[in-house]
Amino acid sequence: MNLRIRTFEEYKESYRRSIEDPDKFWDGIAKTFYWRAPYEKVSEWNFDEPKFRYFINGKLNITENALDRHLSERGDQTALLWEPNEPTDDTVSFTYRQLYKKVCQFSNALKAQGITKGDRIVIYMPMVPELAIAVLACARIGAIHSVVFAGFSAMAVADRVNDAQAKMVLTSDGTNRGSKHVSLKSLVDKALISCPSVEKVIVYQCMGSEPDMKEGRDIWWHDAIKGKSEECPAEIMDSEDMLFILYTSGSTGKPKGVVHTHGGYMVYTAYTFQNVFQYEPGDIYWCTADIGWITGHSYIVYGPLLSGATTLMFEGIPTYPDAGRFWQICEKHKVNQFYTAPTAIRSLMGYGKEFVLSSNLESLKLLGTVGEPINEEAWEWYYKNVGKEKCPIVDTWWQTETGSHMIAPLPGAVALKPGSCTLPLPGIFAAIVDEAGHDVDNGKGGFLVIKKPFPSQIRTLWKDPERFKKAYFPEDIGNGNYYLAGDSALRDEDGYFWIMGRIDDVVNIS
Ligand code: WT7
Repeated sequence: MNLRIRTFEEYKESYRRSIEDPDKFWDGIAKTFYWRAPYEKVSEWNFDEPKFRYFINGKLNITENALDRHLSERGDQTALLWEPNEPTDDTVSFTYRQLYKKVCQFSNALKAQGITKGDRIVIYMPMVPELAIAVLACARIGAIHSVVFAGFSAMAVADRVNDAQAKMVLTSDGTNRGSKHVSLKSLVDKALISCPSVEKVIVYQCMGSEPDMKEGRDIWWHDAIKGKSEECPAEIMDSEDMLFILYTSGSTGKPKGVVHTHGGYMVYTAYTFQNVFQYEPGDIYWCTADIGWITGHSYIVYGPLLSGATTLMFEGIPTYPDAGRFWQICEKHKVNQFYTAPTAIRSLMGYGKEFVLSSNLESLKLLGTVGEPINEEAWEWYYKNVGKEKCPIVDTWWQTETGSHMIAPLPGAVALKPGSCTLPLPGIFAAIVDEAGHDVDNGKGGFLVIKKPFPSQIRTLWKDPERFKKAYFPEDIGNGNYYLAGDSALRDEDGYFWIMGRIDDVVNIS
């Protein structure tokens, strides 16, 4: 897809067109993908129910766009690079063809265990390549993945498994993070005591340990894939068929099961990946998040692979064996785009800049942040010591619910201001309003809302449409006519957005 924006004029023009005629704008992006059957209409939506549908009656499978589509042109290019917890262990890499075969093989293993389209699978795995393979295999056969961060407790797993009524859990014998070793399998055993929906557990052996295996329920990953074909036709999905549920913990109440779908999510994660990170063929891109969060779903797995990129995945933590690990990895793999969170930067700042300065970071072209506002001191440190004052910093504002970046600079086109996520991306009608839903003047704080829908947005909360409406389209703010992000923010004299914080404490939106 060649929809790259390179100048401020192009950005303004693209933004104007996207707001004037959104369907035409989304169609322009969507048609660059591979559809099994074309969509008949771009969108259908209303804020009353509320209901949002994109690429109506289009048929596709997101993995055919992330894998199969690349085989002829870049089958031998590295798709996934994996850096292990121990720096002395070998890096593992998969070309697009190798990844395709692994995903197909595991898809066949899932099918052989009785998984069919629409079944929910909870994935509770460490940051090993098999986690990405598991995610893609679910998508390939139309199973709905729900990844639970491997740092969560047995109780958190049980809650999510029960809410999703998952038929299967994928896990590993354990996980290595820094000098800590956790037996994930024993946590799963504990969780599943109260989870009657789970019929099978597949266990990936990454620690070489021998946990108890429950007869009839548990099966080793290596046994499950034994003899399975490396070809697996993709399930043909409707655009609006569910791709995944990802639980996000509201500040109050039980976790919300955010639902994303095959078509819309695909279209905007790829577009934002390419534009915000300015990815060029051959670049090595690294996002340090865990796949257990939306950042990992959209910008380790789907966005990069949909774009034919090389994406790096890291098993460990920034401070093991020392606080230079991120930068050593950047040097080792000649990383070009590096995406992390302000809290990681602040923590590494505390160890001193010597850890950064001892690595060669010449390959870096762009830096990114996500998750919270970045304070000026951390911005300066990142810009100067990591980026050597030559790498733009893209401060990306978005949410589990939006699936993709919403407000972020397009490097080269939109001028940066440290601490501001700058301007909304094309297609995103972001605004700051008061309780009545009226735009507030620049310089005044208010509720951050998105006034028109967009393809990658949350479709509903799993099995809880009432909570969906109440949390995101509440009547008491703008009469329910906007998507309420739950953040307060202001725009400055140039229209730049500055995120101030969550509003949950002010208004009861959960
Ligand atoms: C909330 C969403 C998006 C992936 C990580 C978090 C805050 C996110 C920024 C940013 C200021 C940010 C907001 C948002 N947030 N990015 N660049 N600047 N705040 O996903 O757990 O769904 O949380 O994170 O408060 O609403 P999440």
